[in-house]
Amino acid sequence: MYAKAAKIIKSAERCVAFTGAGISVESGIPPFRGENGLWNKYDPMTFDIQYFYQNTLRSWEVIREIFYEVFGRVQPNTAHYALAEMEARNLVHAVITQNVDNLHAEAGSMVIHEFHGSLKKLVCLKCRSTYKVSQIDLKTLPPACLRCGGILKPDVIFFGEDIPEPARTHSFNETSRADCFILIGTTGTVAPANMIPGAAKSNGASIIEINPFPSEYTQSVTDVFLQDKACVAMEKLIEEMDR
Ligand code: APR
Repeated sequence: MYAKAAKIIKSAERCVAFTGAGISVESGIPPFRGENGLWNKYDPMTFDIQYFYQNTLRSWEVIREIFYEVFGRVQPNTAHYALAEMEARNLVHAVITQNVDNLHAEAGSMVIHEFHGSLKKLVCLKCRSTYKVSQIDLKTLPPACLRCGGILKPDVIFFGEDIPEPARTHSFNETSRADCFILIGTTGTVAPANMIPGAAKSNGASIIEINPFPSEYTQSVTDVFLQDKACVAMEKLIEEMDR
């Protein structure tokens, strides 16, 4: 299967990676669903935008615990670096990620569409000023805008919010142009992100999937299923492409 996947990638005109929480699991960030999933421990409602507006302090306490207390300590893993290497070799042309952990950028990927935003930025709900998270002291919650005193929110998409532009437009443009998609570590359960692989498939792209377990895509859109963890799979893929 790895030889087949390597052949598809090498012969593709434009290959795009589509990643989910699974690619960051081996960096120490738990997934949302499945074994050790965050939603087994925390209520996803904490990430509903209405809940955030009505229970800002409680929501921020959970967000800080889940993300910011690990954020900055976690590092990209072999899979992130392998994707960046494939981009450098012109084998991958873009990464569309559902992840908000910034690990693709830290691994050196250049063309990244953050479909759900990024934890690295905070945005003021009142005046829309934005800050790097390093500029704001998260010891005091909820964090306040340095300009107007308004409440700051992580620049990530909460349930009930629209996908940010230009990430949305860029992601669907990539989807219409790609003739190869590599899905890495995603269950395919959250819309509208989960429409992207199907759209690529209907545009004629070959779909390669990396996941230790079957997902919503495996039986429906996947052409080559590499049933491994992301780090092992990406190492094997790079080896095959070097043959
Ligand atoms: N390597 C590759 N895949 C892995 C690994 C690993 N080491 N470990 C787990 N996985 C797979 C799981 O089998 C699962 O299919 O990663 C996937 C994680 O699924 P989710 O936690 O549902 O993550 P994701 O699909 O990215 O969730 C989509 O849901 O909660 C929202 O906004 C959040 O972006 C997130 C969206």
